[in-house]
Amino acid sequence: MSDERLRRVRDRVRPFPDFPEPGVLFRDISPLLKDPVAFRTLIDLLEDHLRSSFPKIDFIAGLDSRGFLIGPPLAQRLGIGFVPVRKKGKLPGPTESVCYTLEYGKAELEMQKDAVEPGQKVVIVDDLLATGGTMAAACELLKRLKAEILECLVVIELKGLKGSGKLNSIPFYSLLQYD
Ligand code: PRP
Ligand code: ADE
Repeated sequence: MSDERLRRVRDRVRPFPDFPEPGVLFRDISPLLKDPVAFRTLIDLLEDHLRSSFPKIDFIAGLDSRGFLIGPPLAQRLGIGFVPVRKKGKLPGPTESVCYTLEYGKAELEMQKDAVEPGQKVVIVDDLLATGGTMAAACELLKRLKAEILECLVVIELKGLKGSGKLNSIPFYSLLQYD
């Protein structure tokens, strides 16, 4: 993977100490979204990674809300569909839901029961992995729908929080790592 392309993306992630509460160093992707060259480079890198890793993917599943910024453009590039994994109470029809804890709080994630068919191959996408609680909850939801989870993919991994350990044997990929 090209260091120059990675650097272009990394340069557009901005650290904010003590947000949203004291002690949290918030990694803000707003500058990355604002810069069309850096954002295109991000999608290029993720597309290259997925094309070289998996011969067939049925869907990208994106996590509410910042996974919705990255998942749909990536799915479009790959020529596949996108399914949303939402915070509770936003999706109509029959749903599955799972509670989880965050680096700064608690929440519940939901998917529509007909979002994927049993056996369909899914990559789960989010902007960032911290404690891993959100991603683990999304994995649980997709397992309940009997999807085949090919990989959990994030742009940013906060290594110090050891979140990838919560994903057990599910393959995990991060583009950028921070201590
Ligand atoms: C953030 C981030 C991930 C999650 C990671 O979302 O976008 O989804 O936290 O944290 P974890 O690994 O400790 O679970 P947040 O819940 O703040 O919601 P947002 O995307 O709507 O801002
Ligand atoms: N979500 C959870 N922890 C975060 C952090 N440190 N920066 C940005 N988003 C987050």
